[in-house]
Amino acid sequence: MSDTTATPARFTVTAHGRVNLIGEHTDYNDGFVLPMAIGPCIRMRVTRRPDRLAMLHSEHGPAASLDLQRPLQPGERAWSCYPAGVIAQFQRLGWEIPGFEASISADLPAGGGLSSSAALEVATATAVEMLCGRSLPPVEKALLCQRAEHEFAGVPCGIMDQFAVTCCRAGHALLLDCRSRVLRHVSFAAAEVRVLVIDSGVRHRLVDGEYARRRAECASAARHLGVASLRDVDSDTWQTLPEPERSRAAHVISENERTLAFADAVARGDWPAAGRLMNASHASLSRDYQVSCRELDLIAEIAPTLPGVHGCRMTGGGFGGCAVALVEAADADRVQAEIASRYRAATGIDPRTFVTAAAAGLEMTCD
Ligand code: GLA
Repeated sequence: MSDTTATPARFTVTAHGRVNLIGEHTDYNDGFVLPMAIGPCIRMRVTRRPDRLAMLHSEHGPAASLDLQRPLQPGERAWSCYPAGVIAQFQRLGWEIPGFEASISADLPAGGGLSSSAALEVATATAVEMLCGRSLPPVEKALLCQRAEHEFAGVPCGIMDQFAVTCCRAGHALLLDCRSRVLRHVSFAAAEVRVLVIDSGVRHRLVDGEYARRRAECASAARHLGVASLRDVDSDTWQTLPEPERSRAAHVISENERTLAFADAVARGDWPAAGRLMNASHASLSRDYQVSCRELDLIAEIAPTLPGVHGCRMTGGGFGGCAVALVEAADADRVQAEIASRYRAATGIDPRTFVTAAAAGLEMTCD
């Protein structure tokens, strides 16, 4: 039994969303990713209850009541499947979770490609740790949250998002080797540049099926080449693959190289080089990986033509969601307004745009 008396009766967990600066659709290919946590977040206010119920309240939907004395099973795919999935994983580890009430609020749009699901999962895992007065190593915690998403939300995601929320530090992006799970915190706080997020406002429902299909195509490409994953391809043999495996491999192999080169460019403060790599990443995702859409392509086309923009690309799973641009600090406001106005004129959609610093993925306060 854990010591539950040492932890506070009331506390708040804040879990931030993320953008991925580069390294897209590489995580489930054992490759490299470079996300950073952003300002928008979800807040979970937690109060202990004397019984063994978890009462969950959110602006996103009806309240849920979970009996913590029984093993939780996957059920309805409502918002509460994320916290329920996380709690179930702790139950399997044999943790006895005391009753609690959680109120969830967010300025992180759900389903907008900024990892609202991972934020909710990691917030729940952190709340459980607090309630039980013990904690998991961060890597184990991120993997537990990924299992929750696979089993309870039915999304076969990689490990990037849960690692970003669990491990990102303020002022840093996170270079993650998805095979060894070795992390490097890359300083990303230069005064001269800003990260601009542009939400296309497009949400494609196709995403889940297409995401699983890309994973299967990559696995098939690796099988053809006789390697464990596309991370291991070190010659030009992939050029002989049939389509679509050839194009998928072309993206993953080149994206891994771009991600490492981007981390080096950031370390040198070579923003034009970093921006060119972002533009190349977008082109590869759009042409070879085919996970962009007309609206994201439009943003990635408009942004780099504007003075002060180093580069721009879609971020996250794709088929809608957000784009991310690397912009000179002095030009950030003007660029933001210009992209929004050109995008609105072309699509009729008023895009949400915001400038963000690299945030910490997680924060805790005791009330
Ligand atoms: C989604 C998944 C991640 C990752 C990205 C694409 O965000 O949750 O694991 O695969 O897509 O890079």
